[in-house]
Amino acid sequence: MTSESKIRQPIITIAGHVDHGKTSLADAIRNTKVQDTEAGGITQKISFTKISLEQIKKQCPLIEKNNIKLEIPGFLFIDTPGHAAFSHLRKRGGSLADIVILLIDINEGIKPQTQEVIELLKISKIPFIIALNKIDNISGWRKQSENLKENIESQSVNTKMQFQEKLLTLIGSLHHYGFNAKPYYEISDFTKELALIPCSAKTKEGIPELILTLAGISEKFLKKNLTLGKIAKGIILEIKKEKDMLYAESILYDGKLNVRDEIVIATFNEPIVSKIRVLEEILPISSKFKPKDEVSASTGIRMQIVNKDNILPGMPFMIINNNLEELKKELKKEIGEELKTDERGIIIKADSLGSLEALITLLKQENIQIIKLGIGNINKKDLISAETNLKEDPINAVILGFNVEEDEEVKKLNKKIKIIKDEVIYKIIQE
Ligand code: GTP
Ligand code: MG
Repeated sequence: MTSESKIRQPIITIAGHVDHGKTSLADAIRNTKVQDTEAGGITQKISFTKISLEQIKKQCPLIEKNNIKLEIPGFLFIDTPGHAAFSHLRKRGGSLADIVILLIDINEGIKPQTQEVIELLKISKIPFIIALNKIDNISGWRKQSENLKENIESQSVNTKMQFQEKLLTLIGSLHHYGFNAKPYYEISDFTKELALIPCSAKTKEGIPELILTLAGISEKFLKKNLTLGKIAKGIILEIKKEKDMLYAESILYDGKLNVRDEIVIATFNEPIVSKIRVLEEILPISSKFKPKDEVSASTGIRMQIVNKDNILPGMPFMIINNNLEELKKELKKEIGEELKTDERGIIIKADSLGSLEALITLLKQENIQIIKLGIGNINKKDLISAETNLKEDPINAVILGFNVEEDEEVKKLNKKIKIIKDEVIYKIIQE
């Protein structure tokens, strides 16, 4: 690798069931206390944090101790709410994440949201590791050593037995999903076996080992994917209003973006072209943004864009370089292909392009056809489509809503149409 080819931060997404400790784990890695400040301790939206290599080394003394040389400039962590969020994080042709940490409370095991993440990970084939959190809650558990392996070994006989039992149950369940999982200290090939890292976000046991594993996987297996590309590409996560200004909170996952650049953003119809009015980047270990002339992937940004009509969460954008027509065609083709509808079928709505695509993928596996789809709440038009189905194709007179609500108007008007809403995709599909 020459000094010219820059390596970007791997994007690491933490996903898992509600309350299993995703935000606490992010806090433990960053040495922050975001979880304490959340309303009701619940994460409401996707957030991202940039961590420099220096900060990583501080949180993981094992790197210097073992004299490990890292080329990655740091990590970009994405924390997701437990409910229905992991699926947002999609980019064209795959996942936005380079690595996923699937977090499981070791005492609770696999829960609905865990199951959903596993299903999506299986389809997307992203490398992932499993953090088995809350080991400190195992009865009799005591922190005995800074070294996780030693720490586990030195628990009392009874505590160790409980730990082993929970571990084996989980390994068994993961086997059902087709994964060959092992505790990280027994793994010889991280590309073939799934690493389980016992940890506690509370006592920080296992956190250095977790960071080391992430860094190791990034350097060893992902470096080729992490070379910074020439074309700036990103995904809009959310459109936010602050002091009467609209911001598109986004992840830039490749290339460099300058405030003077023009970008093209996909929509359901014609892609739109816009100048960037304001470009801001997330500060390291912070949720604050700072104006910047130029930003480089991987990073979290927010933009004020001039042309903001029709922009929806999850939509991809790209920098324009005298190739607008080509890009437009490319974006239209990709969106069109993924969102093709059938001649008959049900109506589906979701809260972002990523979650919509995830829903479509899982519905297709069940051979369920779709006649109409969209992003946003269930509205009167959706209801009318379902009522048309009721006359012509009654079995398909159903609206599925993934992480969306019905408009008030729909609640009032709807008498006959079955509307199924949930925050977990597979529960919707079951119903
Ligand atoms: P959502 O964002 O709502 O999905 O939850 P989350 O997965 O981010 O979980 P969060 O970090 O908010 O933690 C949930 C609760 O578990 C909090 O009360 C934490 O203090 C607690 N918790 C998290 N990690 C640990 C741990 O390792 N040990 C113990 N004992 N408690 C933990
Ligand atoms: Mg959380």
